[in-house]
Amino acid sequence: MITFSGVYKYYDSVAVLNNVSFNIEKGELAFITGPSGAGKTTLLKLIFGSEVPDEGQIKVGDFELSKIRHSKIPLLRRIVTFVFQDFRLRQDLTVFENVALPLKVAGEKEIKQRVLDALKDVSLRHKADSIVKTLSGGEQQRVAIARAIITNPQIILADEPTGNLDPESSQEIMSLFKRINTRGCTVVIATHSPEFFRNTPYKVLTLKEGKITT
Ligand SMILES: Nc1ncnc2c1ncn2[C@@H]1O[C@H](COP(=O)(O)OP(=O)(O)OP(=O)(O)O)[C@@H](O)[C@H]1O
Ligand SMILES: [Mg+2]
Repeated sequence: MITFSGVYKYYDSVAVLNNVSFNIEKGELAFITGPSGAGKTTLLKLIFGSEVPDEGQIKVGDFELSKIRHSKIPLLRRIVTFVFQDFRLRQDLTVFENVALPLKVAGEKEIKQRVLDALKDVSLRHKADSIVKTLSGGEQQRVAIARAIITNPQIILADEPTGNLDPESSQEIMSLFKRINTRGCTVVIATHSPEFFRNTPYKVLTLKEGKITT
């Protein structure tokens, strides 16, 4: 589903990713870990097509990202969604309106039922009409996840989804991603918290100084 082959990414002539190769299978849940500055966010952005590799190949589904034309990026984004570290929600809109946006953009029908189902999935059905800026951090994280799953993507990328949450909310968010994964969605989570993947059956890719060490 996601294959990196000999990928290099440079910023200011420093190799942030230095000959990185790995494979994540369809339906897998994988963690990307490593110290701050190791390149975790960069790696997710490369999968999302918001950064391009300087060398090497990146295959995501049927897309070859080192050669992808700009006009094809919207097609890529139909199969890959990104839960950003800062959520990027529309703070002045309601929870419902935020989650409905991707469906409206795609010109989909049956928006109402699908949004309510997604909100139920993330246990926020009761907050549908609340303005996003009145929600807690954990609740906003769940709105961001509902918005990411609403279009039934094949791959969800999440950048430090528990970064600003207390342990209990963090566990809830991780359980939610595991549940999404059991429905067949490939999930890739960048995190520097080892407690989420220690003693789990999931794939762990550890980045250090631009290389994968596990
Ligand atoms: N757009 C950019 N321009 C220049 N340097 C960048 C850019 N994006 C990232 N970098 C540099 O690349 C390195 C890796 O950054 P990245 O954000 O991928 O790390 P990270 O592993 O996600 O770190 P953190 O755990 O702090 O989120 C850092 O040294 C960062 O300063
Ligand atoms: Mg990061």
